[in-house]
Amino acid sequence: MKFFIDTANLNDIKEAYDLGVLDGVTTNPSLMAKEGISGEERVRAHYKAICDIVDDNVSAEVIATDFEGMIREGKELAKIDDKIVVKIPMIKDGIKAIKYFSNEGIRTNCTLIFSAGQALLAAKAGATYVSPFIGRLDDISYDGLELIDQIVNIYENYGYATQVLAASVRHTMHLIKCAELGADVVTCPLKVILGLLNHPLTDSGLATFLADHAKAAGK
Ligand code: E4P
Repeated sequence: MKFFIDTANLNDIKEAYDLGVLDGVTTNPSLMAKEGISGEERVRAHYKAICDIVDDNVSAEVIATDFEGMIREGKELAKIDDKIVVKIPMIKDGIKAIKYFSNEGIRTNCTLIFSAGQALLAAKAGATYVSPFIGRLDDISYDGLELIDQIVNIYENYGYATQVLAASVRHTMHLIKCAELGADVVTCPLKVILGLLNHPLTDSGLATFLADHAKAAGK
């Protein structure tokens, strides 16, 4: 399973990368705005800074919502670095843009997926990744994990190469359940990745080991 971090914060990206378990980064316009990044030049420079930290898979989202605009923006984003994956919203022109980029050999991440039908369309268009937003579904009393299960099954039925990138992951159990269901990738904030470290029996076990060692050494 690949781990992506869902942030535009360079310190968080560096911390996750230094842990040695990071496979990529997802951003979105809200996450970029949260870091105070705006204006074409600054946005490009920020994506480049992210690409310089990680090995691959930096999702950069287009702002345009029409086909020509998405193609123009996506091409510019893809030029920043080979690690860029162009993130395209799940709308009609977005599907056309995904098909276009797929033919051009440019990787895409189809974002804002909330149904199996949307995921099927994106796969048929040749998306590299689809991003079902499980937390946002849970927020409105739909089962986000059930959607992951459905998409994984559908893609398996037909051998689609599109990878299921579970997004809007809010806590460690989301991540673990996505792994059980066979999601290819999970993207989440740093705190969720670090949350996987925690177990009280690990803490108490280590404390005992160290105390016993100190006692035996006569300290
Ligand atoms: C995914 O690519 C999105 O950036 C993200 O996971 C959205 O998460 P949120 O629902 O916590 O904003």
